[in-house]
Amino acid sequence: MKKALNETFEELFGAGGEIRAYFAPGRVNLIGEHTDYNGGHVFPCALTIGTYGLARKREDKKLRFYSMNFPEDGVIESSLEDLKPAEEAGWTNYPKGVMWAFEARGHKLPWGVDFLVYGDIPNGSGLSSSASLEVLTGWMLKDIHGIESLSGQELAVIGQYAENHFNGMNCGIMDQFASAMGKKDSAIFLDTSTLEFEYAPVVLPDARIVITNSKVKHSLVGSAYNDRRNESEQALKDLQQVVHIETLGDLTEEAFEEHKMAIKDPVCRKRAKHAVYENQRTIKAYNALKANDLEAFGKYMNASHISLRDDYEVSCDEIDILVDLAWQIPGVIGSRMTGGGFGGCTVSIVKNDAVDDFIEKVGEGYQARTGHRAEFYVVDVGEGAHRLS
Ligand code: GLA
Repeated sequence: MKKALNETFEELFGAGGEIRAYFAPGRVNLIGEHTDYNGGHVFPCALTIGTYGLARKREDKKLRFYSMNFPEDGVIESSLEDLKPAEEAGWTNYPKGVMWAFEARGHKLPWGVDFLVYGDIPNGSGLSSSASLEVLTGWMLKDIHGIESLSGQELAVIGQYAENHFNGMNCGIMDQFASAMGKKDSAIFLDTSTLEFEYAPVVLPDARIVITNSKVKHSLVGSAYNDRRNESEQALKDLQQVVHIETLGDLTEEAFEEHKMAIKDPVCRKRAKHAVYENQRTIKAYNALKANDLEAFGKYMNASHISLRDDYEVSCDEIDILVDLAWQIPGVIGSRMTGGGFGGCTVSIVKNDAVDDFIEKVGEGYQARTGHRAEFYVVDVGEGAHRLS
């Protein structure tokens, strides 16, 4: 792989100089969905798939980009002096956004770069290919410019800042954080209100994490995501009239039940219910995993799906079908949608000896009911972003 990347790099940008290689992973979230912009907890882990990058510092301010995933775009040229979002800039809006965010947050970038990337996260799968590209770019910039003081957490914040303010997607911190801070065989239990986190081992002797890609992505993604944020914010404002809280993550289930009628709009009330219960569920699920109670963890995953489907309303028919099919298979410990929703993937924990059955039955059932062919990835939990050479 690295050889192919190197050859393409030298062919396009010429040989010589020091070419450095980096990797930043995609992520799967085990539980804690749509809680990261509500001051709640999330529990994602980094994957071993992600985005690779080769970079060589330039002596001028020029930027030359090439993606092996979009060869038809050819080499896209730009400059550090022209960091503005533009539709025709295509995928380069992500790395350019991160460069812009570096400068906006006080990190000067004196040198341009030749930058080649290749990603092996399936497109549109909701496994955070854009966050991995952002974190990859951040790592590369930090390394090439020798900005030692920048921590992985800060690179995640910069990536999110770029996504929010350059690319117009109002996402939370989870994806960039998982890509920057992931650890092999561990999930990250992250409190998004403080960015305090703990690693929890996910070495499951008898089970595997299986991601099922629905291969559908509904166009609602961006707009509905921002709607959910607004509805959650409205609910918070109403609640703040009667109870002293900073975020929905500050409420227990009991406190929510006591004060929920302060939320005037019933839709906003349902959204807040999900945010509160999902956060508490994530804390309980983390504790269950620490206590080696995988069965309980699986039940929390299932409950998370129901809440996302019914109260937060971010699932869709295809994903509900995948989850229903999974729930019927003996040996499935838990199954739910993962990521932003409206398509993308489910995540399931499946006993080792049921994995083949799972892939066969869910695959057949899904095709029969939707006409789509699902893809399955039996995944390992990998390291966060790092330099390769
Ligand atoms: C997307 C966003 C994340 C998070 C999830 C939902 O992946 O990028 O910040 O909000 O949706 O949990």
